[in-house]
Amino acid sequence: MKVFVIGAAGGVGSRLCRLLADEGVAVTGMHRNLLQFESVAATGASPLIGDLIGDDVPKLSHWMCGHDAVVFTAGAHGTGIDQTSLIDGRGLEKAVAAAEAAGVTRFVLVSAMPEAGRGKNLGERFEHYLGVKKATEAYLSRTDLDWLIVRPGTLTDDPGSGLVAAGPAVIDAPVSRDNVAGFLAAAIARPLLSQQIVELTDGETTIAEAAVTLAGGGTEVATGRRLLSA
Ligand SMILES: NC(=O)c1ccc[n+]([C@@H]2O[C@H](COP(=O)([O-])OP(=O)(O)OC[C@H]3O[C@@H](n4cnc5c(N)ncnc54)[C@H](OP(=O)(O)O)[C@@H]3O)[C@@H](O)[C@H]2O)c1
Repeated sequence: MKVFVIGAAGGVGSRLCRLLADEGVAVTGMHRNLLQFESVAATGASPLIGDLIGDDVPKLSHWMCGHDAVVFTAGAHGTGIDQTSLIDGRGLEKAVAAAEAAGVTRFVLVSAMPEAGRGKNLGERFEHYLGVKKATEAYLSRTDLDWLIVRPGTLTDDPGSGLVAAGPAVIDAPVSRDNVAGFLAAAIARPLLSQQIVELTDGETTIAEAAVTLAGGGTEVATGRRLLSA
């Protein structure tokens, strides 16, 4: 199995690259800064310098060719309204178009809880961010891709408990980046966990159990090197 991670130097992305690589998955880790090359390589992923703003769909598509799944966990991280539109918004649309052109059918988007920050007056930038995330969810969900949208609660750098609450509607709460990465890795390995929106927080269910339940209890598992029936 071969996975293309966009945002590989980020908090969630770097953890995901490491988990997948440890499982024997071949990972391409796209990051935009040359200085991140060593840290991405240290996760076990193959680093690839790319920029969602500067690189066009044909180039992204060329890079994605031969992969089984794309994970989009990039983000402007509060650097401004224009950057959010270009990275979280247009960047996602470009990545989706590239995956379609490359024939990569599995596409996992890390989005956000729509009610995150509700009642906290977090300002125009944050409202814009949530609007862009929702628009990209709508965009991805209208495609024929084998998509999965994961909406984490507020991200923390706490050590992962391995225990989550995951489902179509979960009360907004914090979730560790470790747990998000763990859930993404489990979800990628379960092709039946598809065309769903999954809200995710820290909770009381093991990640493996949550992924199995959301996949309908199916036993089909994609391993590092092949698809098999467990
Ligand atoms: N923070 C929260 O509480 C929260 C809650 C729910 C969902 N989320 C979402 O969860 C996702 C992962 O969060 P995180 O904390 O892991 O984010 P992060 O650490 O900021 O990682 C995002 C990565 O995206 C990369 N990136 C930005 N612009 C790019 C571009 N033009 N081309 C390629 N890569 C680019 C960044 O690269 P640089 O290092 O060069 O900036 C960064 O490494 C994000 O989409 C975020 O919006 C966050």
